[in-house]
Amino acid sequence: MKEINIDTKAFVYEDINELTDVDKNLMQAAIKVAINAYAPYSGFSVGAALLMEDDSIITGNNQENAVYPSGMCAERVAIWKAGSSFPNKKVKKIAITAISSHKKVDRPVGPCGSCRQTLLEYEINQSENIEIMFKGEVGKVVKTNSIASLLPFSFDNSFL
Ligand code: THU
Repeated sequence: MKEINIDTKAFVYEDINELTDVDKNLMQAAIKVAINAYAPYSGFSVGAALLMEDDSIITGNNQENAVYPSGMCAERVAIWKAGSSFPNKKVKKIAITAISSHKKVDRPVGPCGSCRQTLLEYEINQSENIEIMFKGEVGKVVKTNSIASLLPFSFDNSFL
């Protein structure tokens, strides 16, 4: 037996103003689209914005449903919008933010496990990393260089 360490390099920014102009602009698109989330049950509105290889931006937000499991997260709405409309365009970055009607979200909101898995598939298929950054309503922004870095020991189609 041997013990191994798995390193994940993450960059932590004090707030959105510390980001580059490109990243800040993308995060602002996520903030804007979060407002349009359909989240009447959780009161937790999430926005996701993708920067595509041609510098266009594709956004998505969470869409809930009275049958709770039929709802969908912002990240998957956004990546599926991109994948279904522009299957050959690569994704360079994704920015995620959240706002709650119950309390101030003051720490970075990482994507759920299912969204990480879904995003990973696109990252692998395009053979280029997708940078990911996420924040709460206020405060710090966390950024990593790839989706894979958020999902160690992941499953992918190379096993099939
Ligand atoms: N949600 C997202 O949109 N993305 C995540 O990564 C975490 C959770 C949504 C799903 C649901 O509509 C609400 O937030 C509360 O879980």
